[in-house]
Amino acid sequence: MTDKTLIELSGQQTQMIVELGEYAEILHWGQKVSGDLEGFRMALHRPVPYGRLDNDVSMTLHPELGRGVFSSPGVEGHRDGQDWAPVFVITHQELHEEGVVIESEDVIAGLRLKTELKLDKNDVIKTRHTLTNIKDGVYQVNRLANTLPLPARANELMTYYGRWVYEFQTVRQPLYQGGYQQENRRGRTSHEHYPALVAGTAHFDEMSGDVWGFHFAWSGNHRLRVDVKADGRRYMQAEVIYLPGEVALKEGESVATPWLYASHSNSGLNGMSHHFHSHVRDTILPSDFKDKPRPIHLNTWEGIYFDHDPEYIMSMATQSAEMGVERFIIDDGWFKGRNGDKAGLGDWFLCETKYPNGLQPVVEHVNKLGMEFGLWFEPEMINKDSDLFRAHPEWLLAVDGYNQPTGRNQYVINLQNDEAFNFLFERLDHFLSTYNIAYIKWDMNREVVQPAHQGQAAAHNQTHRYYQLVDKVREKHPKVDIESCAAGGGRIDFEVLKRTHRFWASDNNDALERQTIQRGMSYFFPPEVMGSHIGASHCHSTRRRHSIEFRGLTALFGHMGIELDPVKEAQAEKQGFERYIQLHKKLRPLLHSGRTWRVTADDCAHQIHAVVANDQSEAVVLIAQLAMPTNSLSGHLRVPGLDPNGLYRVSVLDKPSNYDDIVNYQPPWTESGCELSGTWCKDVGLTMPILDAESAMLVTFERIR
Ligand code: DGJ
Repeated sequence: MTDKTLIELSGQQTQMIVELGEYAEILHWGQKVSGDLEGFRMALHRPVPYGRLDNDVSMTLHPELGRGVFSSPGVEGHRDGQDWAPVFVITHQELHEEGVVIESEDVIAGLRLKTELKLDKNDVIKTRHTLTNIKDGVYQVNRLANTLPLPARANELMTYYGRWVYEFQTVRQPLYQGGYQQENRRGRTSHEHYPALVAGTAHFDEMSGDVWGFHFAWSGNHRLRVDVKADGRRYMQAEVIYLPGEVALKEGESVATPWLYASHSNSGLNGMSHHFHSHVRDTILPSDFKDKPRPIHLNTWEGIYFDHDPEYIMSMATQSAEMGVERFIIDDGWFKGRNGDKAGLGDWFLCETKYPNGLQPVVEHVNKLGMEFGLWFEPEMINKDSDLFRAHPEWLLAVDGYNQPTGRNQYVINLQNDEAFNFLFERLDHFLSTYNIAYIKWDMNREVVQPAHQGQAAAHNQTHRYYQLVDKVREKHPKVDIESCAAGGGRIDFEVLKRTHRFWASDNNDALERQTIQRGMSYFFPPEVMGSHIGASHCHSTRRRHSIEFRGLTALFGHMGIELDPVKEAQAEKQGFERYIQLHKKLRPLLHSGRTWRVTADDCAHQIHAVVANDQSEAVVLIAQLAMPTNSLSGHLRVPGLDPNGLYRVSVLDKPSNYDDIVNYQPPWTESGCELSGTWCKDVGLTMPILDAESAMLVTFERIR
């Protein structure tokens, strides 16, 4: 015991106590408690029961079979069938201000492992391993996983599921015996298996309970696991799924895991989100755009689809500018052969039939109207019906001899082929260098099937090459904003966000569905990175109809845009767009910097969302009525996060047009406002108004004292 040392990593509220000896073990990760490290050691060491191995077995950051850990190992691989159960011993450790870097070796197996473990001021941990082959012969890596322990009281999970137009759905499940596993083999982050989950104490909710949230920053295949060991201890593990043979290290070569991000909060899910949002703002988002207000978009996709006529597009731009739009984006359909979704991908040359006078007049028109110009690309994809495929059928990401299924009639390009990679860079560079393009929407509309380079499995490297392509574009064009889109929200994760600025959260612009999708996304992402558009009143993906108020207020709480053809819209609708654009501009500084609270409602037919200024001077609250109220009265609106000693003026900023007609009378505060203390707002609240299903109301709180 004496040859072991304890180190402590601290955030503002989080403490991690790590014991370092032959290996590293996290003894405590949770709320910060002051005290003496030696006392902690005595308090935390475990008993050894009969009927199992004679020594205490630690759950290290990389569980090892050779030490008697019967859990999912941190490293699995072999060298021609040898060296398959490595046991690492620490050779070197360095404690930095933010964390610790540990180097371990197994001299028999000929492997070195570097483990980085950091805890920042926003209480977010990040960890990763790098494995190096230090011996003669190729080491075949089957698995390399990040592992973090969870305390035994973490006995409930919140995990994600979803699909196209139905992203970020959450589900709760107990965690008692056995465990949870999710595997993503779709080759992109995916709609189905968003790489994050939350473990917590029984019945944790938005405001209470201990929670441990995890986000695996990787845009390809992954496995997430939460396991309850037979002795009751539990851990979370995240790894890239390596396809057979795809990671083979020659002597001196290394492979690194993606970063696993994690955060503990003892004040429920809101507390956890505050940590992740601050971390994203301070550390993940590219720093170059932080101070620039996020411009309001008009995206042409649902307005005109593939039907491009530059004169008409310019009239759309004129009307957009009149409504207050700040960035005009031409979506899919502008390039050679792209008249539908069956052909053209890969031919990144302007369609001269549609644009006989080139793109320049359109860009100039948009710029003259005072708007930025943006353009859509889907660089990684190819249609067989394209000049590119006819010239380079060998550029497909595929295994020769097999016919893989198409997705949206398209295939993936092998980015590991240097010629293909350079061609795509040259095409993107050409457009970004020729035109005044401020933004690109980088789409990716199909899953990856049988990814191979020179016959060998190559999913892992394809994802790295995608990052490299984006990085190369950004290096040459650092002023261009990039949106990550993959048929809506199929590629949303922290690693993409390090090199992009915004996500297209979903192809579903139905305000009712968006309420759930946006809420699911809000657990890990702040609102400013979430693309959120007002679509046409008749939603294209669900065929539901919603009022402009409900659509406007729903889109308000993200990076707002409009997605329709303004030329065809009625005057009343246009006035609505203008109103919500103005409202967004007014509230944007608050919405994009403040603290998000998912507010607990008394009636589950409501979803309430608040953003409170960091200095608690103001707040904006959205009451969304998702379904018919359960009872005729719906309890109270209680708003957390305000200054308990402050006095606030409460006012209704926006409400449904029929608000006064649907009941005898509404709560008086919704008519004339009122003044209340921050404590009252949090603990007692205001009577809820009566709203129709699928409508919303916006309330503001302004500190007057
Ligand atoms: C899928 C995206 O999610 C849409 O917004 C749009 O850009 C289409 N692709 C274009 O093909």
